[in-house]
Amino acid sequence: MCGIFGCILKEGAASPLIHESLKKLEYRGYDSVGIVTLNNGELQLKKDQGKIDDVHRLVNLDDLEGKIGIGHTRWATHGAPLKINSHPHLDCEGKIAVVHNGIIENYSELKIELENNGHTFVSKTDTEVIPHLIEYTLFKNPQYSLADAVFEAIKRLEGSYALAVISILEPDKIICARNESPLVLGVNENGYYLASDIPAFLPITNQAIIVNDGEFVIISSKGCEIKRISDSAIMKRTPKIIDWTPEMAVKKGYPHFMIKEIIEQPSTLRNTLRIQDHYLDLISTFLDRAKDVFLVACGTSYHACLAASYMFSKLAFLPTYPVYASEFTEQHGKSVSIDSTILAVSQSGETADTLSSVTCAQQRAATILGLTNVIGSTLTRVSRVYIGQQSGPEIGVAATKTFTSELSVLAQLALRLSKKRGKISQDEMDNLSEKLEEIPNIVEQIIRTQAEKVKQIAKKYSYAKTFFFLGRGISSATAYEGSLKLMEIAYIPSIAFPAGESKHGPISLIEPGFPVLFICPKDGSHKTLISNIMEMKARGASIISIIEEEDDAIKKISDDYVEIPKGIPEILSPIPFVVPLQLLAYYMALEKGLNPDTPRNLAKCVTVK
Ligand code: F6R
Repeated sequence: MCGIFGCILKEGAASPLIHESLKKLEYRGYDSVGIVTLNNGELQLKKDQGKIDDVHRLVNLDDLEGKIGIGHTRWATHGAPLKINSHPHLDCEGKIAVVHNGIIENYSELKIELENNGHTFVSKTDTEVIPHLIEYTLFKNPQYSLADAVFEAIKRLEGSYALAVISILEPDKIICARNESPLVLGVNENGYYLASDIPAFLPITNQAIIVNDGEFVIISSKGCEIKRISDSAIMKRTPKIIDWTPEMAVKKGYPHFMIKEIIEQPSTLRNTLRIQDHYLDLISTFLDRAKDVFLVACGTSYHACLAASYMFSKLAFLPTYPVYASEFTEQHGKSVSIDSTILAVSQSGETADTLSSVTCAQQRAATILGLTNVIGSTLTRVSRVYIGQQSGPEIGVAATKTFTSELSVLAQLALRLSKKRGKISQDEMDNLSEKLEEIPNIVEQIIRTQAEKVKQIAKKYSYAKTFFFLGRGISSATAYEGSLKLMEIAYIPSIAFPAGESKHGPISLIEPGFPVLFICPKDGSHKTLISNIMEMKARGASIISIIEEEDDAIKKISDDYVEIPKGIPEILSPIPFVVPLQLLAYYMALEKGLNPDTPRNLAKCVTVK
């Protein structure tokens, strides 16, 4: 997730406005910043790594000349957060400049093709193929306009993009296009604006034109023309008046970041499916060779590791130890060796306990692998190989999209390792890969059809003083995560256990009306789980279940239920099944008049041990 902004002004300089607007997009990424303007047939460009204010102090982003420009604030995915990888990126001759938010999946193939045709690349980014591809298209078709060349070039891009292009070849235009990454236009009497998000231009204008996926836009000082990429049809669209306050706008109109981040999971999950094969291969090779594998993390990331231990075991027959990072040194420090591999999982890549486990393992010469959301974080620097979860900045203190993104990456790793080891049949592998591709749509469907139901459940049980979350097998990880969310956001003490374990003690807490939430995918433990539900029911518990659609056996014995589409393989079930639990915590917090974005005593990134 990066932020892009551009403008064509009638009066005034573009660069101070772009600078100011990029600051409003900094929540989308803050690894580097860059601006390029057009003035007297020349491109003027400044960019560097670091936060916008820091870069501005060094290079003054406001003194670029010209009324046309584009800018970018970066969340690194391909290539470290360095100046060389900062946007805007240029073609060989420095005539075409591009900013881009998204991931170009086929960039390696395109890069090889372009290099074979004499193009020289300076960065490690996927984006840099775009200006070169436009340059190459113009070289082969000298009769083309800039817009024709961009139009032709983007047809070759696979993946997601919101991009903006300016060039000295036609210095009165900005060309943009969108596929799966957000892009909106703003308009007022002084010009046209493009941005990743409405807040970027809201102080300048409240008239917005939404650009849809698969659309292409030519902006000039006279107006903007929108075309559908598939058939070149002209799309007529009038500006809409946006009546959000700036604060609402940053949250895209949602009242809280937490709900915004829950709702954006389908798109963040789609992003996780774009991870380069190369990284999955490398990490699974290290896992394959290790004598013992420790999955080390804290909080939500630990729950993802716990679920992953079932994935690695069931798909790749690889035993792993999921360990709380704060316990790692005490529990395993002495047994770690040169033959051990530590897969450290941390959204922030800066959690002190996780990093101190890594240090302990490094001292014993173990191999360190990392999974994180923040490329450039300490974890990426200390890992032999790391992989990015690619879910963009998470602002709500409670981790939501982090859990599902990490799980999606870990599932891909388990599948890759399984393939390497030849542990499951090709049919099973194909089926799991297909289902993983469907998960973003399934999560979208759950949010669309079940959120209201969860809201009603939250209302009904808002009296509860305590909650149980129970599941068997991989669903016990989902239960732990649901319980953590409810505790941290709604301050409701809640206890999670593997369902089978509940009768070894916790069941003594049950009295009439005590809410017990069961996670019930239709897997091998379904029958036993029904017995666990009956044990609770017999003691007067109120049963809330997260079930597969048409699971009548559990519906009949539940007081309330939430339905998940059928046919999700057990191993992938935590991804969709956790979504109602995130929503439950959110609505419970609202019921109790709490702000879910700022739970007391917690910090987004815990940098103390
Ligand atoms: C829970 C939560 C925390 C984090 C934990 C680890 O909602 O946000 O439990 O999951 O502090 O953080 P990272 O993944 O950044 O290491």
